[in-house]
Amino acid sequence: MTTTITSARTDVAHWYLAPPGARSGIGTPDGDGAPIALVAPVKRWLPLGEFATSLEFVTRQGDVLFGDAARAAGTPGGDLLHYRLRGGPGPVVVVHDPTYIKAIMTADESIAPSATHQSPLAPIVGSESVLTSLGERHRQQRALLLPRFHGKAVANYQAAIDRATERGLTGWPVGKPVPLADVAQQITLDIIMSAVFGLPDPRDVSPAEDGMRTAILRMLRLSTTPLATVTQLANARREDPVGLLKLGLSYVDKTVYRVLDERRSSGATGDDILSLLLTATDTDGNPLSDTEIRDELMTLLLAGHETTANTIAWTFERLTRTPGVYRLARRAAMRDDEEYLEALLNESMRVRPVVPNVARHLLAPFDFGGTTVGPDVTALMSILLLHHRDDLYPQPFAFEPERFLGVRINPYELMPFGGGIRRCLGAPLAMAELRTVVGTILRRVELRTHDGPPETPRNRNVTMIPARGGIVVADSISR
Ligand code: HEM
Repeated sequence: MTTTITSARTDVAHWYLAPPGARSGIGTPDGDGAPIALVAPVKRWLPLGEFATSLEFVTRQGDVLFGDAARAAGTPGGDLLHYRLRGGPGPVVVVHDPTYIKAIMTADESIAPSATHQSPLAPIVGSESVLTSLGERHRQQRALLLPRFHGKAVANYQAAIDRATERGLTGWPVGKPVPLADVAQQITLDIIMSAVFGLPDPRDVSPAEDGMRTAILRMLRLSTTPLATVTQLANARREDPVGLLKLGLSYVDKTVYRVLDERRSSGATGDDILSLLLTATDTDGNPLSDTEIRDELMTLLLAGHETTANTIAWTFERLTRTPGVYRLARRAAMRDDEEYLEALLNESMRVRPVVPNVARHLLAPFDFGGTTVGPDVTALMSILLLHHRDDLYPQPFAFEPERFLGVRINPYELMPFGGGIRRCLGAPLAMAELRTVVGTILRRVELRTHDGPPETPRNRNVTMIPARGGIVVADSISR
């Protein structure tokens, strides 16, 4: 597809290199700046057809979507982008209009259920988890877990969040370039381990729990390699993992089952999530099976720390490249200005949403502004495009926390945590972690501005992470 844009435009090689004053060309096309146009129009490797599109969706999804959305803008039905993804969900419609997103998010589950059971996460977390289950089973699992993630319950995790943040700062080498995602991942994994297993201090973990923690970290490290992209494609739309993923997971699973055995034989219980799962029963009064517990634990461990860690990394990736905002943010943190900190986190998740899409399966025909889509089409709600619409966010590529000050947020215009009955279960915990970790780093760490170009977003499973982990240099850390 090589449609030419005739209006004045700002040529950039990739969407994330767009200058702060540029428009995306998506949404109402008025304003002062020129829309971006990607210099290299999306290449279609014709002989490979759908397979090439699927590969592009994994390797350069942002460029494909920004390019296609800007080119289609203003044409009839141009606010819907259609694709066929090989090995993926088949026919896909990408939606970025908040009215359409609201219609899908609020539709009855019988006509627009979550499509996570088809996502690349499904073979990893299994089919029995709160993320991948549907209908009554999903409702029961959410009802079981939700009380542990409500505001009050999250307040109980605050001490663990403070301790993990402190430990993260202690181990951070001064004067050396460090991927912030690595520092943050240690912190967020400690927090989620403590919430799930009720362990206040990772030094108190048993050898079995330590083995599981190490196995998960190892698997995550491997998942950033190019080989992982191929593995992801090979496992697309499968319920059970194959190949390298199967091998890696069987190793991690062994460590998880060892932890289950250990906890059962010790008889120890507490108000942690593992204790809850070990004592929970289904509607017939039967205890949960090991596989069900394993799937739930894997979901919480994976969904619960990588997303938060990479949001922290992206926040400082943006801050270190926007010195004016960085200065304001530090000043705000010193003064405990919670409103500014909240605006900063919202802006960071707007410009770099770690989960760039959420999906629903349209089982019935949907009318989107006169265009009928479906049935049997996967709607990919592009959080990335939604967050860069010119009509919602003037100068969408600029990093400006001020745009959220004193503003009541519309949940269908800013949605880093998704929405509807599948909205992120851990959002209150994630926000508590982000406030503490980002606030503490702003107050106590003197970060040298990194002069490199913006980090390339890399798609890993369902996440969009900084390719180099958000490299920063800490000039000093006050203890
Ligand atoms: C900044 C951090 C996080 C982001 C950006 C994020 C984002 C998301 C998104 C976009 C969804 C899909 C929602 C939808 O389909 O509408 C989701 C689901 C979910 N998240 Fe998070 N998440 C984060 C942190 C966490 C944490 C800390 C936990 C828990 C410990 C967690 C657990 C879950 C679970 C269990 C689901 C599935 C909910 C369901 O299907 O009912 N997430 N998250």
